[in-house]
Amino acid sequence: MAEDLKISKGDKSDKYRSLIPQMSALLDGENDLIANLANVCAALKEQFGFFWVGFYMVKDNELVLGPFQGPVACTRIQKGKGVCGASWNESKIFIVPDVEAFPGHIACSSASKSEIVIPIIRNGTVIGVMDVDSDELNSFDETDATYLSEILQLISF
Ligand code: SME
Repeated sequence: MAEDLKISKGDKSDKYRSLIPQMSALLDGENDLIANLANVCAALKEQFGFFWVGFYMVKDNELVLGPFQGPVACTRIQKGKGVCGASWNESKIFIVPDVEAFPGHIACSSASKSEIVIPIIRNGTVIGVMDVDSDELNSFDETDATYLSEILQLISF
């Protein structure tokens, strides 16, 4: 496949809808997890310009930083801590419109203002999370939750 991403200029849903088939093509036929996670981060960053987008994977009962795009971030997160740890603990998506209002939010960067975290669930167990941060308040909603979940389904873990 061509490694150039076609960037859509429509609304948020248009952007996701244009990105998903391209992402599917990008992942197709490649079974290396790190390569695939890295390309998913790069494609999301390129399409949306997110401040930070990346993965934390469960290893030895901690979330450990995986592939990401954006500023350097904390490497390990305990279960139940921060938005990522809460998403892991409760196996649910967290949409945080204002990170300062989220008890226990872990500020890897003071520039991060809002956040969405989606648990990656396989066989009923959370094996990691996808975290997306914005430097603006209120950046994420159900549209992001729906399409980011769809993107996670494209990845073989
Ligand atoms: N804010 C997250 C930590 C990860 S970084 O934002 C990249 C949290 O509260 O879990």
